Amino acid sequence: MSKRTIVILPGDGIGRAVLDASLRVLKAAGFEADYQEADIGWEFWKNEGNPLPQRTLDLIAEHKIALFGAITSKPKDAATEELSSSFKDKGLIYSSPIVKLRQHFGLDICMRPCHTYTGNPLNFIRRSADGGVEEPEVDVVIFRQNTEGLYSGVEWSNPQSEILDGLMSHPNYKKNFGNVPAVDISISTRIFTKKSTERILRAAFEHAQKYNYNSVTLCEKPNVLRETSGMMYKMALEMQKNDFPEIELWNTNVDAQMMWLTKNPENYGVIVAGNLFGDIISDGFAGLIGGLGFACSAQYNPDTGIGVFEPTHGSAPKYADFPVSIVNPIAMIESACMMLDFIDEQSIAANIRKAVAELIEEGKVRTYDMLKMVGRPGVIQQGAASTDAIADAIIAKMV
Ligand code: NAI
Ligand code: MG
Repeated sequence: MSKRTIVILPGDGIGRAVLDASLRVLKAAGFEADYQEADIGWEFWKNEGNPLPQRTLDLIAEHKIALFGAITSKPKDAATEELSSSFKDKGLIYSSPIVKLRQHFGLDICMRPCHTYTGNPLNFIRRSADGGVEEPEVDVVIFRQNTEGLYSGVEWSNPQSEILDGLMSHPNYKKNFGNVPAVDISISTRIFTKKSTERILRAAFEHAQKYNYNSVTLCEKPNVLRETSGMMYKMALEMQKNDFPEIELWNTNVDAQMMWLTKNPENYGVIVAGNLFGDIISDGFAGLIGGLGFACSAQYNPDTGIGVFEPTHGSAPKYADFPVSIVNPIAMIESACMMLDFIDEQSIAANIRKAVAELIEEGKVRTYDMLKMVGRPGVIQQGAASTDAIADAIIAKMV
């Protein structure tokens, strides 16, 4: 059988270090693939005026599966400032290549599991009623709608008159903003479609059913965002009643959820949300299980089978140029395991996950974050493991 080709997108900053470490772990676990590197990120914005070149989209379309490190994004004006001189006056506007990638391929299902690693010194702990300390077990999977909502990219500053005329037909706009000059207005829209809302809800319920979670929590704000969150809630109620009566539907407001997740995170299982709220709550839960060094994600289009797997963290530029990389590769390695699940290589994924769990529980080899050190090059001399040393230790544990 011919080998599968995986597109690799190291991107910026620490992306390459965590990706390289993950590829070594995949190889040692017996996963055979050809890897084809593709261009994405800041360098390509600066030098080509496009952080996501067409050749990268073509490669992903051809091979369907990609592993992505991280990219650097900067606000609009800072991005224009850094463009190479030949692109500066072309009126190019920077937008995040990862958001564009998600929209281009309709990677509308984003799945972000957060589970406690036994023995991780970064696990969330709290006081128990008797004054002792307890460490609740977190086992949450967040399903985040990945292409719409507030990240749709439908935004204006100083909106043109057609937009303002349309908005003036809404009584609340007319009353509260009708007298504000256009130059003083910026608008970001929150668009939910029934089709995408149905897809993310169904993905969440199906996951709960398959893996025996007894509840799905919709985490939005339907009492205030009546149209978008309200529609999602109504659709969730219908879906639960008609198709998943054995699974409970819970409804939390996102602000309250941020409080509940530190009070009793063990109460939650599958959580489903729109794009922005899903982004926020998944970082919140990641904080309970060790932070961004542990938070992995899958994003995919179930119709086309295209999937891009990436750690939740970004390019961490302050750690990017250390002579020896000190960042934690576990988020990327766990994202690679999600890729393996997606392409039906579950037994290889299980082997890697077991080795990661053992490494963390044993506690002999730890990156600076697990040792609660401030991230500086000197942490290696103080006993922290490098990115590569963690990969080596995981490899040594695999059967
Ligand atoms: P970040 O996730 O890059 O880093 C925040 C902090 O988290 C770091 O300073 C570090 O303390 C910690 N951290 C992150 N990854 C870690 C790892 N693997 N091991 C140990 N500690 C780790 O977020 P930040 O600083 O807000 O953004 C930096 C750049 O990354 C920005 O340009 C931002 O736009 C971009 N970004 C890209 C994302 C992506 O590629 N999907 C996601 C989030 C941010
Ligand atoms: Mg985020």
